[in-house]
Amino acid sequence: MNETLAADLHPQGSSRFVRACLRRPVDRTPVWLLRQAGRYMPEYMAVRKHHSLLDICRTPHIAAEVTITAAERLGVDAAIIFADLLLPFTPMGLDFEFVNGEGPVVHHPIRTLEQVEALRTDRADELIYVARAIEKVGAHFAAPRADGDTLGIIGFCGAPFTLASYMIEGGSSRNYVETKKLMYAGDKAWPLLLEKLNSVLVAYAAQQVEAGADVIQIFDSWAGALSVSDYRDYCLDATTELVQRIKALGVPVIYFGVDTASLLPTMRDTGADVIGLDWRIPLDEGWRAVGPGCAVQGNLDPITLFAPEDVLEARVKEILTLAANRDGHIFNLGHGIVPGTPVDNVIRVVDYVKKYSTRNVEVKA
Ligand code: CP3
Repeated sequence: MNETLAADLHPQGSSRFVRACLRRPVDRTPVWLLRQAGRYMPEYMAVRKHHSLLDICRTPHIAAEVTITAAERLGVDAAIIFADLLLPFTPMGLDFEFVNGEGPVVHHPIRTLEQVEALRTDRADELIYVARAIEKVGAHFAAPRADGDTLGIIGFCGAPFTLASYMIEGGSSRNYVETKKLMYAGDKAWPLLLEKLNSVLVAYAAQQVEAGADVIQIFDSWAGALSVSDYRDYCLDATTELVQRIKALGVPVIYFGVDTASLLPTMRDTGADVIGLDWRIPLDEGWRAVGPGCAVQGNLDPITLFAPEDVLEARVKEILTLAANRDGHIFNLGHGIVPGTPVDNVIRVVDYVKKYSTRNVEVKA
């Protein structure tokens, strides 16, 4: 390998994952997977037997262990810190719990301006346990791996729309009626809610970056519930502000949502470095929609992980072909791994990406 090129591909303290986020050349496509630490994995279930989801999130050495185990078992290029989107609700004064089989439940959903006004923004420090877990993951992965690359560490938070929707609906929703009612009402409640969320999220992201997160991913999981006009009129400004304030911390930002085919060009307007594509859109079409000046992450259908090996291999190759070794592709799923997914198939995907995306031309002297 040409030495200058080798140094360029593996600069100290960098990783092919971070490089791809910045659309720099890489020796092969980096890969990690949404929900890579989760209920499909026996090692996670063994920890879950003794601890609740929130206990795991709030205990740095356990959160770090779960994060590290998943990344090492799969052989991925980045580790996403084990946490949950809704953790910031607690210091904002909103109680919630995870009910088995039902997902998150907020006991007193936000419906009025008075309730929005009562939300606190001065206690983001209480979320510091996530930063402590990131420090432990960073210490574990400090040394370069056998291939010379350093594992990327991903911190994350929710986007204002998706978090507001959980606060307002009280849990998952089909039609987002209460959220949209508050959004359309035209009074101070909606903008104030997004502003308060942003203020906590920026502080929370800053803690994560200071602790060693290389990249922050913003999950706008339910943005696909919005028309382009509603996204533009009610969410774009707040989301752009969040993206820009996190970028100003000095890290690349990945912005991900589901069911977003029609929203992609507008999501790109936030200025995120990377747009996460869901699995419904062909990768090249999604990339065209966000434009060439932006990296993309995705986008295998997570349910393909239940398919026979030949189908799985063909789908991975298809995505790599659509990406065509262009700088700025991070391989991922188009949404999270679901419970019951065979672990061997998850590992297979990672291995296929490594095998079929190596850039023979660029790395040879
Ligand atoms: O490796 C990882 O990705 C794990 C870390 C992680 C969790 N939640 C842990 C978790 C991440 C990145 C999240 C983000 C998150 N949380 C999102 C955005 C991602 C997405 O899927 O779009 C959302 C919407 C949430 C809110 C949330 N948390 C829901 C809706 C649920 C229930 C989902 C279900 O399938 O039951 C959770 C629970 C949750 N968070 C689990 C995990 C591993 C599973 C429940 C458990 O372990 O008891």
